[in-house]
Amino acid sequence: MVVSLRFILTAIAVVISAWCAAAPRVLAGRELAAAAAGGDDAAMALRHEKWMAEHGRAYKDEAEKARRLEIFRANAKLIDAFNAVEGNTHRLTTNRFADLTDDEFRAAWTGYRAPAALAATSGGGRFRYENFSLADAPQSMDWRAMGAVTGVKDQGDCGCCWAFSAVAAAEGLNKIQTGRLVSLSEQELVDCNVDDVNQGCEGGLMDDAFQFMARRGGLASESSYPYRGVDGSCRSSAAAARAATVRGHEDVPRNNEAALAAAVAHQPVSVAINGEALAFKFYGGGVLDGDCSTELNHAITAVGYGTAGDGSKYWLMKNSWGASWGEGGYVRIRRGVRGEGVCGLAKLPSYPV
Ligand SMILES: *[C@@H]1O[C@H](CO)[C@@H](O)[C@H](O)[C@H]1NC(C)=O
Repeated sequence: MVVSLRFILTAIAVVISAWCAAAPRVLAGRELAAAAAGGDDAAMALRHEKWMAEHGRAYKDEAEKARRLEIFRANAKLIDAFNAVEGNTHRLTTNRFADLTDDEFRAAWTGYRAPAALAATSGGGRFRYENFSLADAPQSMDWRAMGAVTGVKDQGDCGCCWAFSAVAAAEGLNKIQTGRLVSLSEQELVDCNVDDVNQGCEGGLMDDAFQFMARRGGLASESSYPYRGVDGSCRSSAAAARAATVRGHEDVPRNNEAALAAAVAHQPVSVAINGEALAFKFYGGGVLDGDCSTELNHAITAVGYGTAGDGSKYWLMKNSWGASWGEGGYVRIRRGVRGEGVCGLAKLPSYPV
């Protein structure tokens, strides 16, 4: 099914609370017939059909299909226009999000809850890699090659990117410390780490998740507490079996990509970014280079860095939108930008210890 009830309710709540102007209008049958008369429109309808087949999409009726075609058309035009610009270092593609409005996408597929007082959450805390010289760091790093990254996961239409980001960082730490790569449980965080910040599918914060893991002494495995993609009540017996140990977390000094590199040279690091920009949402490969704000609303995990063939330096980030998104589920984002970093990636990175 394209949309769950929860999804619809969340989308409605979001639309009502903040972005009521952006709801797409449903075209009447007459207007559609008129629209279909144009050649471009016929081509777009065909492209939408092909996309539906490719993504296994089915709509409940013709009215819904017509509404989704209009959203698809608007997104496809933006994507085509972006790809037509020469000199872009990354490409966009009509991926699985191409028939969603911005509001629907934001409500269901992101879920990073930026702390109310950014300044209070970092700075002054211990940063264990502060004396590490980057001259001693490898030129490139890929924790996948070190066996410290599990396969790409898919959060589905549940806004718990924060859980996937924190889990990927904890999986990396566990591999580095014990030599074992164990897939860990996002659902335990969704169900059990519920407080005024972390709200399961309605968003959360990685630092809060690390603190939860530290209080509990770790996290259950994915296999003992599997992902369901909806809010549920905490299954204490499944959560009781600890598959990895976490003792706490530290924040990387803010807006400091050199410090971030020092941290990523040692372990995978949770990173908050802006994930709702067109350039990120429809990312289809290459080195993402801006075209996004630095307002944080999504979370991913830095699992390496390197330099592309054309000389552009990048961060290698693991996302939680399935392996069909981006480069096999990963994104390369420009590295070494002053200040907050591309899409705000340097604003609030943190890692478990
Ligand atoms: C870094 O070096 C300074 C000066 O030697 C020292 O005071 C500090 O404890 C070191 N930091 C860490 C995390 O080891």
